[in-house]
Amino acid sequence: MSKLSLDTQNLRPFVSQEEVDELQPQVRQCHDKLESGTGLGSDYLGWLHLPSSFSSSLLDEIESTANSMRGSCEVLIVVGIGGSYLGARAGLSYLKPSFYNQYGKDGGPEIYFAGQNISSDYHADLFDLVSGRDVCLNVISKSGTTTEPAIAFRLLKQMLENKYGATATRDRIVVTTDAKHGALKELADDLGYKAFVIPDDIGGRYSVLTPVGLFPMAMAGIDIKELMTGARKGEDSYSNSSLNQNEAYHYAAIRHLLYQKGKTTEILSTFQPAFHYLAEWWKQLAGESEGKNLKGIFPASVELTSDLHSMGQWIQEGQRNIFETFLILQSSSRQLKIPAFQNDADGLNYLAGESLDAVNEKSWLGTAEAHKEGNVPNMTIQVADRSPFSLGQMFYFFERAVAMTGYLNGVNPFDQPGVEFYKKNMFKLLGKPGF
Ligand code: PA5
Repeated sequence: MSKLSLDTQNLRPFVSQEEVDELQPQVRQCHDKLESGTGLGSDYLGWLHLPSSFSSSLLDEIESTANSMRGSCEVLIVVGIGGSYLGARAGLSYLKPSFYNQYGKDGGPEIYFAGQNISSDYHADLFDLVSGRDVCLNVISKSGTTTEPAIAFRLLKQMLENKYGATATRDRIVVTTDAKHGALKELADDLGYKAFVIPDDIGGRYSVLTPVGLFPMAMAGIDIKELMTGARKGEDSYSNSSLNQNEAYHYAAIRHLLYQKGKTTEILSTFQPAFHYLAEWWKQLAGESEGKNLKGIFPASVELTSDLHSMGQWIQEGQRNIFETFLILQSSSRQLKIPAFQNDADGLNYLAGESLDAVNEKSWLGTAEAHKEGNVPNMTIQVADRSPFSLGQMFYFFERAVAMTGYLNGVNPFDQPGVEFYKKNMFKLLGKPGF
């Protein structure tokens, strides 16, 4: 059963059904290119049918490695950046309790992230936090040469070796990297670290359903088999070339039409703090895939209702170059109801007995209507629950949709040449040999 649905009724009058229908031939062409591997960036299509082809023995190996490490690690530090970081972080915050690291760990380790910045204070504070605890590392880098995680790994490796000695440290480090190349691969081979492979044909931001995302999630006790079953549901549902039968392509077509009408910023609006890193993952997926050749939707996100009290004014009445995609959770895992107060001093007794979900729903419906009146076209993606299945389906939904939007806009959604520019300057300033 599908756990995701797309509602487009608030797009009228901004986008008509006829306009969507007219895009069908172009969508079919792009779909054929994706499926036949004849489009731009076709060396990086390993994600396309990954859920249906995923090796069950690899899933078992990821689970059994995680199960055997969970007992000996009070803390897991996941080292990575960009596509080697955001998927796992999205999965953990989507699926685990809000304050997972403080309690409710299901016997698993606390999980922190390093190497996603070069902040001295952040890393020093992290080292203070974990000192005296039993620490394990999962170092993730496809190239094995990315500066930020490489720096964090040096620091953490040294910390572990000082504490446990080189031999015992070996059993506390899992590396996720390229099968054959890169500094991290060589290090893992030399020092005998357990290594998982990032397939050659899967780029960083499309790698959440590989060991990149799966191992940290398994360490947190997440059912990664259910996640992959959901992703398989996504693959089955969103591999159809027909816009009427494929909501990922329908979403992509609408994004493309709105972009052509000058709506150059898409705001992903969520009403759940648990969706925060999913939105960050989505921003990287969309931004790095589509933003090139002086083209592309700028992906932004807000967390409501909090940001209605900060960004709401801009969205309601600012420059009209935006459209909005609400990402709505249909049902919370746990239900709270508003209590009655005897003297009704705050005037809230009219809501006594209502669930927070019901109030949150009305805030979404009210916001969607207000933004539509403010000339912000909006649509809604509803997700049934915070289960691994739903998340797996959603990861795949967005991957397909972003690939399709990129092809519709004539760009290669699988490269990121622009990311190199800051590195060249930084390396030159740092005096790296050869720069
Ligand atoms: O999507 C991408 O390709 C990037 O965001 C990379 O994942 C990121 O730059 C990290 O690269 P690496 O895994 O090689 O360290």
